[in-house]
Amino acid sequence: MHKAKIITVASGKGGVGKSIFCANFAYLLNQMGYKVAILDANFGLPSQDIIFNVTVDKTFTDLLKASADMAEVIIEIKEELYLIPIDSSDEICLYDGKYIVDRFLDETTLLDKIDYLIIDSAPSIDPKTQELFKISDHIIILSTNDPASITSSYTSLKIASKYCDSIGLVLNMTDKKEDATLIFNKIKNIILKHSDNNIEIAYLGYISPSNYISRSSLKRALFVKEYPNSLATYQLNETIYNFFIKLEHKVLNSKVKKSFSVIINHLIEKF
Ligand SMILES: Nc1ncnc2c1ncn2[C@@H]1O[C@H](COP(=O)(O)OP(=O)(O)OP(=O)(O)O)[C@@H](O)[C@H]1O
Ligand SMILES: [Mg+2]
Repeated sequence: MHKAKIITVASGKGGVGKSIFCANFAYLLNQMGYKVAILDANFGLPSQDIIFNVTVDKTFTDLLKASADMAEVIIEIKEELYLIPIDSSDEICLYDGKYIVDRFLDETTLLDKIDYLIIDSAPSIDPKTQELFKISDHIIILSTNDPASITSSYTSLKIASKYCDSIGLVLNMTDKKEDATLIFNKIKNIILKHSDNNIEIAYLGYISPSNYISRSSLKRALFVKEYPNSLATYQLNETIYNFFIKLEHKVLNSKVKKSFSVIINHLIEKF
């Protein structure tokens, strides 16, 4: 067993904010002192190198072809924050999901070195994504409040629960806390009603539609870095807090709790 915890971020519907979420989530975890790597697993359609504004030379495809090793592929974004990039060709699509995942799990040096591997998946719960679910310690499903996204979340959560028992839901681009919890409860109740197993889903939080997020995307910058005092950064911090408590079952020591309350109080003062 490797040391790294694997978190796959997924959605049935595209464009709900997975890639932006993964990059900013990873950055904040790293800021908290964790060693983090991101695997861009939207095979053939990369976005993490664009979000982090880095130049890619060798990619994960080269690793699969054995024409490069992990040391040549991995990009150090900053100290203890890494990216495993992909290229924009369909070459990787020729590989079967199980082969891709097994090849990745061979990278024991990396997986023993980091605390968290965050996988930014494709907008579909296809067989490749399901292979990623199988090796995940946690799955985070992202949804917006759009009806099509909510509907695709039922299916995504049900499929995720076949492979993993630690699943969280985040409502992105949702304005109010009440709306987010209402949607979460609706999704949870429908899943409970239509499933034989007792599926546990944790509500992790919500992120409002934010001009700071869209502005950062245009600038190829991270919103948590560009706008550390924004509501969106506060909401993502709250999501991480819930992730630690509800999925990691971390008993946060008073020092960590204090640092969260300092962040949160500091941000509240700004509004
Ligand atoms: N809370 C938000 N407020 C405003 N804009 C947002 C928010 N979240 C994401 N976006 C914007 O939505 C767009 C899509 O985001 P992103 O690429 O992360 O989605 P995705 O789910 O990864 O898409 P795909 O399914 O195609 O991989 C980006 O332009 C991003 O800036
Ligand atoms: Mg994406």
